[in-house]
Amino acid sequence: MKKLLDLISEEVKKAFAEAGYDEELGRVTVSNRPDLCEFQCNGAMAGAKKYHKAPIMIAGEVAEKLASANCFEKVEAVNPGFLNLNISADFLKDYIADMAGSEKFGLEADKAPKKVVIDYGGPNVAKPLHVGHLRSAVIGESIKRIGRYNGNEVIGDIHLGDWGLQMGLIIYELQLRKPDLVYFDPDFTGEYPTEAPFTIAELEEIYPTASGKSKEDPDYKAKAMEATFKLQNGEPGYRALWKHILSVSVTDLKHNYERLHVDFDLWNGESTVHDIIPGMVSKMKDDGYAHEDQGALVVDVKEETDTKEIPPCMILKSDGASLYNTTDLATIMDRMDTIKPDRIIYVVDKRQELYFTQVFRCARKTGLVTEDTGLTFVGFGTMNGKDGKPFKTRQGGVMRLEFLLNDIEAQMYEKIVSNLNHAPSTEEEEEAQKTAALVALAAVKYGDLSNQASKDYIFDVDRFISFEGDTGPYILYTIVRIKSILGKYAATGKDASKATLTVPENEAAKSLMLALANFNAMMENAWAELAPHKVCAYIYDLANALNHFYHENNILNEADEEKQAGYIALLSLTKDVLETCIDVLGFEAPERM
Ligand code: ARG
Repeated sequence: MKKLLDLISEEVKKAFAEAGYDEELGRVTVSNRPDLCEFQCNGAMAGAKKYHKAPIMIAGEVAEKLASANCFEKVEAVNPGFLNLNISADFLKDYIADMAGSEKFGLEADKAPKKVVIDYGGPNVAKPLHVGHLRSAVIGESIKRIGRYNGNEVIGDIHLGDWGLQMGLIIYELQLRKPDLVYFDPDFTGEYPTEAPFTIAELEEIYPTASGKSKEDPDYKAKAMEATFKLQNGEPGYRALWKHILSVSVTDLKHNYERLHVDFDLWNGESTVHDIIPGMVSKMKDDGYAHEDQGALVVDVKEETDTKEIPPCMILKSDGASLYNTTDLATIMDRMDTIKPDRIIYVVDKRQELYFTQVFRCARKTGLVTEDTGLTFVGFGTMNGKDGKPFKTRQGGVMRLEFLLNDIEAQMYEKIVSNLNHAPSTEEEEEAQKTAALVALAAVKYGDLSNQASKDYIFDVDRFISFEGDTGPYILYTIVRIKSILGKYAATGKDASKATLTVPENEAAKSLMLALANFNAMMENAWAELAPHKVCAYIYDLANALNHFYHENNILNEADEEKQAGYIALLSLTKDVLETCIDVLGFEAPERM
């Protein structure tokens, strides 16, 4: 379906052409003076110079040509030369009826669907998920869903941090604690145990301890590096231990991501590409791109037009060890071989932007990707506390994601139960738990996604969980309100699915239709700009329009059945659109709240 703005622009363009002016002047935009009109066209102002004519003259002539256009109910040329436009109620109703009857509410799928890999989440094995990982998961999941809704094949890859020094640290610390484990016996030739020699809780304690020790003690660090080296070179006991670390950790990660309604198609990691690194490196050398610099192997990636220094991309350290860079480059190579994506999108902390500039340039220069493969970095800002500093626990430590969610769910539960105004029954308690989990997730995700990703934002729990204002719970509350009205309508024996839209005859109904009409343009744009916040802005407007409509019209007591059915059809469509939007944002609405 065409976008509403395009449709009415076509009319205005035609009028400009008929009046003898360049039709490109006829571009219509949403009014920036909603008190005066719904849409406007500033083309006469832009054309004045070219045609040596007062803008108001041009606007007047165009307005005359538009008098017979059936899409407007008001066309006014006003000083100094604007065209103020109101859309006709009939035309709008027809557009909304088409939208309701179309697949995806009139969004046209991308003409040439793309195969896209999205690299997000990026947790590190054996380290608990903390709030720093929240943004990548939440934003990445939403971008993935927006891409799919637009008709693309989008493959989510978690890109586990499972191969660096952190693995050597854990292995060495384990060896100190439990030297008798068979994994450390070089003469062991049997089958290694299938059961891991630690629990997730132990693992999560081991890593920070080991990391702390290595910072204090150079000897300890050297030993951990040696363990890393041995692991990477295939020491059987270390590999077996590493598999345990991975599997214990991944089980825990899966549980946490499930709770966030975040789900990955691929659970690959840095280790996945270990075996293809040597081939990649020698090709880079043979092709003359990689050269030695102070013992290390590097690829120069600076360009003439750079305004700031872009350091070379390091491929191997002087001891021959690979780096974070190396695994990212080999991962690109692997993805091109096995998936052949048109585009790879990375959702990572914006402090890694320079790093990704180096990696992307290196990948292009060395031919790991073709000219037309898109490499996009979506950098997100920091999640800050109310003090404007990175979000911490009350004790000043790094907040574990689990604890944060538990805390918000508990607050939400209290709120829901206190709204009952009586002591909850067991059944009510159970429902309140489930509802609290859904609403808490919406609060956290919407609180994040409603900001432009690249900006830092303040994680303000009190605001996020409020049922009023620009919040997730407010959106859910609006959906629940519609569900309740539809339920009551059905309870009177009427069938909402048979209700048909009617021409809006008051301002609130028309505003709601206008808010709805924007869906296809918004959803297309949210993908083009990889911008979930555009979906949030749209549903906030839509929810406001819906609630205004609800307050202005007595829907359930409307005596005129046809009129009532029209209201119900409008409500159903709004509910469906809101639910589609929150689904691409990655959360869902409860039945009641
Ligand atoms: N594990 C990394 C970190 O915690 C993030 C990974 C981002 N993705 C990537 N392909 N490098 O910083």
